[in-house]
Amino acid sequence: MKKLLLDVDCGVDDAQAIMMALAAPDVQVLGITCVKGNTSVENVCRNVLRVLQVCQGLEIPVFKGVSKPLLGVEISAGHFHGEDGLGDAPDLNAPGLDLVQKEGAVEAIIRIVTEHPGEVALVAIGPLTNLALAVRLDPSIPEKLKALYIMGGNSDSRGNVTMCAEFNFASDPEAAYIVLDDYRCPTYIACWEFTCYSKLPWEFCDVWLEQDTAKARFMKKISQHSRQASNNEAVEKCLVGGQGFISCDSYAVAAAIDDRYILESEQVGVTVELSGTHTRGMMVLDTQGLLRKTHKATILRKVDMEKFKKLLMDSMK
Ligand code: BDR
Ligand code: CA
Repeated sequence: MKKLLLDVDCGVDDAQAIMMALAAPDVQVLGITCVKGNTSVENVCRNVLRVLQVCQGLEIPVFKGVSKPLLGVEISAGHFHGEDGLGDAPDLNAPGLDLVQKEGAVEAIIRIVTEHPGEVALVAIGPLTNLALAVRLDPSIPEKLKALYIMGGNSDSRGNVTMCAEFNFASDPEAAYIVLDDYRCPTYIACWEFTCYSKLPWEFCDVWLEQDTAKARFMKKISQHSRQASNNEAVEKCLVGGQGFISCDSYAVAAAIDDRYILESEQVGVTVELSGTHTRGMMVLDTQGLLRKTHKATILRKVDMEKFKKLLMDSMK
């Protein structure tokens, strides 16, 4: 059994990614830690509980994490995911926040990783604030992880919230810097451009979400808003790689489920720009090895689309 710990800022693609992890054979989700990102951390907790409810997985512990970035201006993604993070399509029977654990997310990350040294793959699909604090509180965390999978950053200086920075890194550049400065475990990064080039054709999305199951109906309902936003001219401008839906966070989870889903990747030292008039939050690839990093991250370049689509299809069954 692969042990996954998910750190999320539950928007629509986080929900897809969580459902994928829960449906995967031979995967055990040890817990879900929540962080402010697409929406407030309270909404994130609420959204995760809704996803768990539809997947009949409410026994999985949910932990509330950090409500602000370490430094700098807060950003959200309501224009894309809806103000509540899940398409502003509320559910009257949603579970209450009383189901959230008393233990905080940062403490839970440290405890769970410490309880299973060398066994836990942490999949971080929101801003890296929780993880950065965990690493600062317990610097042994990276070497106790089996692997770290991140959705965030950019590989070709192309951003989606600023010219050069991707949302998760732009939301908390210092946190991304801390995590990537100190990674001492195999680290895989699904960057913005990689996810753009791996878009799901709209025809596939129709078949995927027309499945006659409660999970597919839920996903169809919460995806309406982001589907419309994807066709908005302003959003289109920052897309590369043609039309379609980008399920960004699901690529990181797919890689964590089985690295054979990834067909091409590149090993390189990485860091994050903290200042700069136009470049704050940008991930920088040290292709020449000038930073002399002893560890290199694996930048995902190409996914096996057919296998990936099958994972998505199965996650709605
Ligand atoms: C990332 O930002 C969020 O809006 C998505 O959930 C994803 O994690 C893409 O830039
Ligand atoms: Ca996310």
